[in-house]
Amino acid sequence: MARLVVVSNRVPVPSAKGGTAAAGGLAVALEAALRSHGGLWFGWSGKTSTDREIEWLEIRDFGNVTYAVADLNRRDVDEYYTGFANRALWPLCHYRLDLTDFSRKDMAGYFRVNRSFARLLAPLIRPDDLVWVHDYHLIPLAAELRHMGVKNRIGYFHHIPWPPADVLSTLPVADTIMRGLAAYDLVGFQTSYDVENFTGCMVREGFGRALGNGWFESYGHRFQAGAFPIGIDTESFVEMAVEGAKNPIVKRTRESLHDCDLVIGVDRLDYSKGIGQRIEAFSRFCEMSPSAKGQVTLLQITPKSRSDVPEYATMQRDVAELTGRVNGALGDVDWTPIRYVNKTMNRNALAGLYRIAKAGLVTPLRDGMNLVAKEYIAAQDPNDPGVLVLSRFAGAARELDGALIVNPYDIEATANAIGRAISMPVEARRERFQSMFPKIRDHDVSWWCRTFLDALSQDESAIPTEA
Ligand code: UDP
Ligand code: G6P
Repeated sequence: MARLVVVSNRVPVPSAKGGTAAAGGLAVALEAALRSHGGLWFGWSGKTSTDREIEWLEIRDFGNVTYAVADLNRRDVDEYYTGFANRALWPLCHYRLDLTDFSRKDMAGYFRVNRSFARLLAPLIRPDDLVWVHDYHLIPLAAELRHMGVKNRIGYFHHIPWPPADVLSTLPVADTIMRGLAAYDLVGFQTSYDVENFTGCMVREGFGRALGNGWFESYGHRFQAGAFPIGIDTESFVEMAVEGAKNPIVKRTRESLHDCDLVIGVDRLDYSKGIGQRIEAFSRFCEMSPSAKGQVTLLQITPKSRSDVPEYATMQRDVAELTGRVNGALGDVDWTPIRYVNKTMNRNALAGLYRIAKAGLVTPLRDGMNLVAKEYIAAQDPNDPGVLVLSRFAGAARELDGALIVNPYDIEATANAIGRAISMPVEARRERFQSMFPKIRDHDVSWWCRTFLDALSQDESAIPTEA
């Protein structure tokens, strides 16, 4: 079997004490995939150094995975990560043109850091390695590696949505980004919508030709693109949820609820997650249903994220204010409608909390997949499952059609869906659960990894159809 080299911006190197604290779908999924496959994981250490250039790598082995990570200096972090990746590409891919900042300095920093990463990585690559690059921070990496003579098969997976042609073409360097993708052998997206959008960008904007069966020709290269919906480590998540009842955080939560029903939301503090709209919808639900007063509580777990990006700092204030306003207006001496936790929760506790929640609210305004939706289903007791309320704009909605699918912009409809979820009879809940569980069991993270790597290792592979 070829060695696997995974490259991602965020690399959660395990601590000496064991375990990592990564809130984010990419790190969680890759950790699970690499654990079973083994290999090399290369990327940013997450640390900022005072060095002028990215010069050296820290290399450490944990189990069957070798971690090779580099520090970045302040300017690189500002321009490459905070700047172009998270103030241009992230809002663009989430259809938020109102939040994009196309600073030329940041663009230059983005391409510069990708070149530096390629320079450090190229000498570590062996002739038979399969190289798998992840996410929007690293789109130009394959082109840089090719310049340095790397001939290996290189795949790219885009964890977030791919925008339509009209949105992408607002990006001043759209052509360089598309040229960067054409340097890969295989480009993976979360859903067939993303592949359609990508094909639209390619063909309509004249970047290349679609040859059929997932093949493209662009800038003198032939490559494939397809949908590879990411999964979770379902088996271990089910176990964690069952064990979760013993978790001290879960016990404390249960005791503190008395007879209140629990509704749960778990998201990084990100404007794409629709947290404000969700709080409005929950507040509307409480106003509309007199029986909700004192009987239902929303636990919103929201670790801080990307606080150096101004739009995230603003949002941090806005969500805290909104939560305070709702609790002030609706709460009572013995009832807090919304419990807002602004820190990262460990996965054992999360699994147990999902299991005791009667409803899971996953209502992003736009999301590549959303692993929380899959985790919520995996964590349920099959005999007495809770109900998932899921945004139609999450990639997960393409698979999890047993959820109550909502338009998160429609506050009234989302409030109604919360009411329906809370009061749904057990037979209907079981039926919905049974229609979804086999999908997340069969299409788990190992399936995702295997399907992508099989397609990457074969020259003329047919791209699988969407799950
Ligand atoms: N997560 C976590 N602790 C938290 C919040 C989130 O471990 O306090 C995990 C969550 O269980 C999920 C991932 O972070 O596995 C979030 O992935 P998702 O695809 O939902 O969203 P992303 O953050 O990648 O946009
Ligand atoms: C999403 C992105 C990942 C990113 C994660 C956490 O899942 O697709 O690439 O790692 O969010 O964001 P952060 O900026 O903290 O790495």
